[in-house]
Amino acid sequence: MSLQLGDVAPDFTAETTEGKINFYEYLGDGWGVIFSHPADYTPVCTTELGRTAALQNEFDKRGVKVIAVSVDGLDSHQGWKKDINETQNVNVQFPIIADPDKTVANLYGMLHPNSLATATVRSLFVIGPDKKIKLMIVYPASTGRNFNEVLRVIDSLQLTANYNVATPADWQYNDEVVVGTSISTEDAIMKFPKGVREVKPYLRFTPQPEGN
Ligand code: BEZ
Repeated sequence: MSLQLGDVAPDFTAETTEGKINFYEYLGDGWGVIFSHPADYTPVCTTELGRTAALQNEFDKRGVKVIAVSVDGLDSHQGWKKDINETQNVNVQFPIIADPDKTVANLYGMLHPNSLATATVRSLFVIGPDKKIKLMIVYPASTGRNFNEVLRVIDSLQLTANYNVATPADWQYNDEVVVGTSISTEDAIMKFPKGVREVKPYLRFTPQPEGN
């Protein structure tokens, strides 16, 4: 049975470019992103890991630990990391898991043989402080991911974990949010001092409760 939203993220211990890591210890009490890419020394993957490294401050700001995985070995990862740093003008600091025996890939269902025969597809999981899976996205090998979208969803997940709100289509940080459907408009007005805009009884907006 494959992993689903709300499931507990499987723990593991693996060799990485930053030494042996236990996943749960690495995550600590914070948020995490684990993402797979098909293979080292391939163009799209090089840009993806470079982009993630360039966004390291953004992940840090949100208290999110990032870890990458592919079914290549450690020597390959170490050599490729140098290429990523050189060609993408970054300093990759997050660990890249060496998973030649596909232990982590199998735990997370990152192998989709009908899509890509031998390697992991582009799977990405966001894991909450409770170690539960909050987001799963799967892209084919031919399409590099949008890491700004990953950050946008993390902003939404962190906001909606703290307030009874949801984020509407194309929401960006500091945009209005949707009042949770379980709250009456009367209660919402008390709960959200910045104001409530009722478009329909089931469609109420309020300014983002936190932020700048
Ligand atoms: C790439 O990262 O460029 C890639 C990897 C596997 C298959 C196709 C493209």
